[in-house]
Amino acid sequence: MRILRTIAEVRAVVENTRHAGHRVGLVPTMGAFHDGHVSLMREARKNNDLVVVSLFVNPTQFGANEDLSSYPRDEHADAARAEQEGVDILFAPDAAEIYPDGFATSIHVSGVTEMLDGASRGPHHFDGVATVVTKLFGIVRPDVAYFGQKDAQQIAVIRRLVRDLDLDVRIEASPIVREADGLAMSSRNVYLDPAARAQATVLNRALDAAAALHESGERDGDSILKAAGRVLADEGITPEYLELRDALTLQTVTRVEDDALLAVAARVGAARLIDNHILKRSA
Ligand code: PAF
Repeated sequence: MRILRTIAEVRAVVENTRHAGHRVGLVPTMGAFHDGHVSLMREARKNNDLVVVSLFVNPTQFGANEDLSSYPRDEHADAARAEQEGVDILFAPDAAEIYPDGFATSIHVSGVTEMLDGASRGPHHFDGVATVVTKLFGIVRPDVAYFGQKDAQQIAVIRRLVRDLDLDVRIEASPIVREADGLAMSSRNVYLDPAARAQATVLNRALDAAAALHESGERDGDSILKAAGRVLADEGITPEYLELRDALTLQTVTRVEDDALLAVAARVGAARLIDNHILKRSA
């Protein structure tokens, strides 16, 4: 595996691969790899000739009071993990490579960014994500890019961006990878002390309770949300949001007739955690 720092180096390798008629897969990440990242790398490795993983803690998607400075960083361990998974290129640029002096462009995707994380973190968040992902697509020009379903809204934003800008890349979403007790894997789980770590399973338990009610035939959105809300309240957790949205458009859903995204965000100890379940139409 090669660790590359510059756009020019990545372009040179990718161009050679493309000329040979080979497929390029991209896994965009901010590092601090866990099994969720590994599942994306494995999917990319299975289906592509060249696998590029980007490792860049993107400053523009963090708010002023968020955890940019404390976000876990361990390039050495990440590089070892990526190498073990057969990744070809780890693209780990510094901030000036991605945002050189005078950088003045921001991509805003309307319609799917105003709610959920866009409302609780602010509009800068998805503008930052959309801008850096567009840049990564321009640099690597992947055939396929892989994202985790835990960031369900991020996937909706990127799909809309790809469609609206006619970007020639297929977006693949991989299922949420969970710890044995159900906690969704996240780089931010390292912020949890033992008590908060034990409490953090409540997000998945709340979603499970709502999903069970849906499976039993309940279609009223309010009743489904209340089932999840009760589990959170029993644990003393007030969510930043707990909402039912259309899985594709992210518009509010009051009756669950089609696939719906049940999404939650909450502070647990020192961590802000998100999780979601898709309530399937056929259930
Ligand atoms: O999901 C992430 O890790 C980031 O939001 C991404 C897609 C790498 C953009 O910085």
